[in-house]
Amino acid sequence: MLPKRGQDWQTLKRELEARKQSDADWRGLRTTVFVFNAGEDVMDVAKSAYSLYQSENGLGSGSAFPSLARMESEVVAIGLDLLDAPASACGNMTSGGSESIFLAVKTCRDQVRAGGGDTVGSEVLVPRSAHPAFDKAAGYLDLKVTRIPVDSDFRADIGAMRAAISRRTIMIVGSAPCFPYGVIDPIEDLGEIAEQHNLWLHVDACVGGYFAPFARLNGIDLPAFDFSLPAVRSISADLHKYGYAAKGASTIFHRSEEQRRHQLFSCDQWPVGTMETPSTTGTRPGGAIAAAWAVLHYLGESGYREKTQQVIEARERLQSAIEGMPSLKVVADPQLGLIAYTSPTLDIYAVSELMARRGWVSPLLDEPKAIHLMLSPQHLTVIDEYIADLVGSVEHVSQTNMTSTDVTARYN
Ligand SMILES: Cc1ncc(COP(=O)(O)O)c(C=O)c1O
Repeated sequence: MLPKRGQDWQTLKRELEARKQSDADWRGLRTTVFVFNAGEDVMDVAKSAYSLYQSENGLGSGSAFPSLARMESEVVAIGLDLLDAPASACGNMTSGGSESIFLAVKTCRDQVRAGGGDTVGSEVLVPRSAHPAFDKAAGYLDLKVTRIPVDSDFRADIGAMRAAISRRTIMIVGSAPCFPYGVIDPIEDLGEIAEQHNLWLHVDACVGGYFAPFARLNGIDLPAFDFSLPAVRSISADLHKYGYAAKGASTIFHRSEEQRRHQLFSCDQWPVGTMETPSTTGTRPGGAIAAAWAVLHYLGESGYREKTQQVIEARERLQSAIEGMPSLKVVADPQLGLIAYTSPTLDIYAVSELMARRGWVSPLLDEPKAIHLMLSPQHLTVIDEYIADLVGSVEHVSQTNMTSTDVTARYN
């Protein structure tokens, strides 16, 4: 119930801090999901920029707040440059990966409709490993998602994707990388299919969009996944993940303005005249735009390369420790900051329970049963502790034949 009288901030602050006690202690670096911790200095930049623009509204960027329009276009230009986009390409900031994906699917659908196509029963083909945001978007947009099993490398199965195409298919999707396994789908091969059937190819680089380009600059050999492939029509890339921006910041990119036109919303059927918005929301938090702009400029290419290296080093150290433990097995062949591991002999969920008791918060996979980590730069400082706890947990489960009774950490 709303209190009859307001309370002072110090009291409320104490209350908020007390409430936080029951949450995951991500500052203690034992949470490997939900938070992307690139250090207190980066968070301070994001926080300060956010509060400078906390009250400004991106809805008014064309009239009252031109500085937000300028920052958004600079952020978009940075993303396009990182993703090797042609001069014709364009984009927008959104509130997150799910909204960017929604807009890609909606834009594709509306382009098909604008071309006279009937989208009743139309379908989006995605690898089984693609994010549920595609199903959410399809649900809202009255489309259907068909999930195609991945191949033995946990990547999109090109043969199966090709075989699944029908006259109802309007879009195919690849991830760079997918969340469950951290691998990049064979986007070039998906591109061939898309071109052959004149389909929209969307690349979900929500996780990799602001990470893979820096990994590549650091010398890591990654397959092509971005606009350098002519068949790629749109890309989603999250600033609030490995861009280290404040939450509420992602980008949706299109190969051309002609395409993006179908993303826009316009209505003149109310007493205030025409209202146009580029995304699903009306009000857009100025703070999220300013924080993303500030963090990009604070870190610069050298800062991102350094953070990327730290994440990769943490993942590699963990990966080689796991590979040295006969009862564990890394799932797939991760190349970026995500890693999942399973066990051919032990109940891996029991291992997860013991890790949770030691304070580690990590999601689980069902296919296969596995523990999943999405590493941040700061995890490099605790990865040896993680490995030591993992060795202890695995030993305990092997000695006691323990099985899981209670699955503690899920991705939701
Ligand atoms: C590959 C991928 N795509 C999309 C999303 C959705 O992003 P958001 O949670 O910002 O909506 C996620 C979230 O983890 C993801 O991992």
